[in-house]
Amino acid sequence: MTSLTYKPSRVVIIGAGAVGTTTAYTLLLRHRATELVLIDVNHKKAMGEALDMNHGLPFVGGVKIWAGDYEDCAGADIIIVTAGASQKPGETRIDLLKRNVGIFQDIIQKITKYNRDGILLIATNPVDILSYVTWKISGWDARRVIGSGTLLDSARFRYLIGSHKEIDPRSIHGHIIGEHGDSELPVWSLANIAGTSLDFDETERNEIFADTKNAASEIINSKGSTSYAIALALDRIVAAILLNESAVLSVSTLLQDTNGVSDIYLGVPSIVDRRGVREILDLPLNDEEKSLFKRSADLLKSEISKLDL
Ligand code: LAC
Repeated sequence: MTSLTYKPSRVVIIGAGAVGTTTAYTLLLRHRATELVLIDVNHKKAMGEALDMNHGLPFVGGVKIWAGDYEDCAGADIIIVTAGASQKPGETRIDLLKRNVGIFQDIIQKITKYNRDGILLIATNPVDILSYVTWKISGWDARRVIGSGTLLDSARFRYLIGSHKEIDPRSIHGHIIGEHGDSELPVWSLANIAGTSLDFDETERNEIFADTKNAASEIINSKGSTSYAIALALDRIVAAILLNESAVLSVSTLLQDTNGVSDIYLGVPSIVDRRGVREILDLPLNDEEKSLFKRSADLLKSEISKLDL
């Protein structure tokens, strides 16, 4: 009689703030993993969040949730990092860099003390630079260090196009690439609906892209922070990994001669499977898009050059 060995799937979330807890709740509702661990410097907060979710298990089942510490990273399949300062009204994501890079140097060292073969998924902003910093500090294969990138921006872009066209955003194909931030760019040349190109005039394009790029600021001004859509974006990436989907997602990953850009993390459509980023899709960008993409890379490289890595 062969013994059936049961291997739990574990996702650890560092940071029990709005993004971390909403992500945990989303993963719970969608049964993405059999174990969810919340880690926060405020352990009491993490405990309260875990307890509150545990009380919902009679309605959902199938998941063990607890407030843990870094030892619980051992054996984790995915460690999601959401901890750090978040944007206040009027702040850019880059404005958070000085505060968050120090926190990351501590967090990544603690994670990698207990886990050497999982996948690190970064959500804290500025996410592209902090994903690059995580890659450097961890020394891990870049394919296993992934940032949420412009997946959320691309979702906002698709939602807005769908609203204009009165079509389900799941049927809209379009990518925002580059920095998850002010230098991101829309790939209008490749955006389509079932293969048909979009007939927006320049005014409509500018309006849609402005609403995409400014979405976070609008939400932060209204309710203080964003949480739901970023949680769903992180859930999407977790599913692609744990279900070995080979899904194309605009995550932040290390570029090596991608449209002429190297040695920086930026959001680009990438194939994501159980081992992380399998490969980057080489988009046939037009000249304007290539120039904006390079500008985004140069802006982030300039910020990284100021860090003491
Ligand atoms: C946003 C945060 C996650 O764009 O940067 O909502």
